[in-house]
Amino acid sequence: MPEPEIFTVTAANKAAWDASAPFHGAGPDWDRLVEEASRPGFSVLDTCLTETLRDIGIAGRRAVQVGCNNARELLSLAALGAEPAMGIDQSGAFLAQGKRLAEAAGLQPTLLEADIYALPEGLGKFDLVLITIGVLNWMPDLRRFFDIVAGLMAPDAVLVIYETHPILEVFDPAGDRPHEPVFSYFEKTPVKVEGALTYDGSRQGVGIVSYWFIHPLGEIVTACVQAGLRLGALVEHAHSNREVDYDIYEDRPAQLPMSYTLVARSD
Ligand SMILES: C[S@@+](CC[C@H](N)C(=O)[O-])C[C@H]1O[C@@H](n2cnc3c(N)ncnc32)[C@H](O)[C@@H]1O
Repeated sequence: MPEPEIFTVTAANKAAWDASAPFHGAGPDWDRLVEEASRPGFSVLDTCLTETLRDIGIAGRRAVQVGCNNARELLSLAALGAEPAMGIDQSGAFLAQGKRLAEAAGLQPTLLEADIYALPEGLGKFDLVLITIGVLNWMPDLRRFFDIVAGLMAPDAVLVIYETHPILEVFDPAGDRPHEPVFSYFEKTPVKVEGALTYDGSRQGVGIVSYWFIHPLGEIVTACVQAGLRLGALVEHAHSNREVDYDIYEDRPAQLPMSYTLVARSD
């Protein structure tokens, strides 16, 4: 995608995420999160991601999370012995919440407000790059995204992606026919999302438009490999790690893949 278009998209998405932040940074759930962050061994990572990271052995690794949102997952890496060194997100409003969580946890990661497509020079290299749920679909240009991610990796660093499965993009869980494909897996036009973005999928706010991209799994893996990374594992999971609306696709006799873990390494 040409550069001006990339930045038009990412600027719109930044505004949508900043507008979303107030829906998450106050109230009982937020208070509980701050309280939990202050406890030893704090982690919001689910069993699947925790086991993946344990199997890899991340103790002592300097970690960066790309699209870290409020940094709760980045901070959780400390419980597995990694150093949560840097979180990158373009939403300053969410990073402000991340700062409060980091203070509660007694950790000092650098929380960098930046568009991943326009990172400042000299960020250094990391031994672990983490990308989780709901990041890749905001990326207008996958090939360029993976080049940038690879550029953050020190020799023998590991990239762990734990994401929602793109096959879910063909369904509309809130529609009349939730179990029939209604969108093409190969749709190239970005999906216009109206309203502020919330973790539970509810839409609030008017006049806010963001852009969501459907990236087939083959394109994700290809972009990763073309960035020079060595694919170690691609595991598709039957469990959901996205909005609760999608729980209707879980625990079915004819089960769809609902999430996946991709592990790759730099040379
Ligand atoms: C769905 S959230 C990630 C949530 C995270 N997995 C969690 O559970 O906390 C996606 C994040 O990606 C960030 N993001 C989207 N596009 C970005 C870009 N171009 N550069 C940096 N961050 C971006 C958004 O600001 C948002 O915080």
